Amino acid sequence: MAMHVVVAGGHGRVARRLGRLLTARGDSVIGIVRSSQHETDLSADGMESVVMDLDRTPVDELASVIVVADAVVFAAGAPPENTAQRKGVVDRAASLRLADAAAAASVRPFLLMSAMGVEAVADGRFPPGADAAYLEYLRAKWATEEGVRARPAVDMMVVRPGRLTDEPGSGRVTVGRRVSEGTVSRDDVAALLVALLDHPRPGAVLEVVSGTTPINEAVADLR
Ligand SMILES: NC(=O)c1ccc[n+]([C@@H]2O[C@H](COP(=O)([O-])OP(=O)(O)OC[C@H]3O[C@@H](n4cnc5c(N)ncnc54)[C@H](OP(=O)(O)O)[C@@H]3O)[C@@H](O)[C@H]2O)c1
Repeated sequence: MAMHVVVAGGHGRVARRLGRLLTARGDSVIGIVRSSQHETDLSADGMESVVMDLDRTPVDELASVIVVADAVVFAAGAPPENTAQRKGVVDRAASLRLADAAAAASVRPFLLMSAMGVEAVADGRFPPGADAAYLEYLRAKWATEEGVRARPAVDMMVVRPGRLTDEPGSGRVTVGRRVSEGTVSRDDVAALLVALLDHPRPGAVLEVVSGTTPINEAVADLR
């Protein structure tokens, strides 16, 4: 049966790849974008779009979009040139509001794109050598994970990729609770998100880098 998915940060590079994979097989995808100029691209990808700035849109408006969905994916992120403070805003408050909206719309599956390395800032720790912007980024991702985890009305799955690349996907990854540092193609992360939408693992926290295991097999093997 076709799935309905809402992707926040719908014009992002992982999000568009995800949208193309899902719509190509007949699922319907609504991308939340903050610029109407991005709607043409989403339409070309086969996605519908809704223009909403995640930083400013109230929970009830987000919920009115999500209510048609079977699952929500948070794939937004602050652009790299943004300040440390800005990274915190988009990754923390916006994603928590989205989780509240999913809860209000009674949509349980919630896939959160986080980042490898976030645990380095758990319990207020300070990773040696991290610059201020990266530190704030990690803190925002960690706080988001903790915040969504504290919302039992959604079934969070966290995907923590290594450094993302635009290399063509290989269809093979290494995925698990802890994996060695590395890079991973956005194509492969998008395919992993599809596999997790098809075979949800509520509560899973998954690091992912490129590897040798076919993505569907890697997800099937998760405990
Ligand atoms: N880069 C890495 O190596 C890396 C590693 C691990 C994890 N991640 C995480 O993986 C996820 C996906 O990465 P990506 O490379 O696909 O990201 P991306 O291409 O930079 O896309 C992020 C998208 O989020 C959107 N966005 C930002 N703030 C928004 C807001 N307030 N309202 C609505 N949309 C907003 C951006 O919209 P605009 O187009 O309007 O700016 C952009 O389209 C992100 O959460 C990122 O933090 C990245």
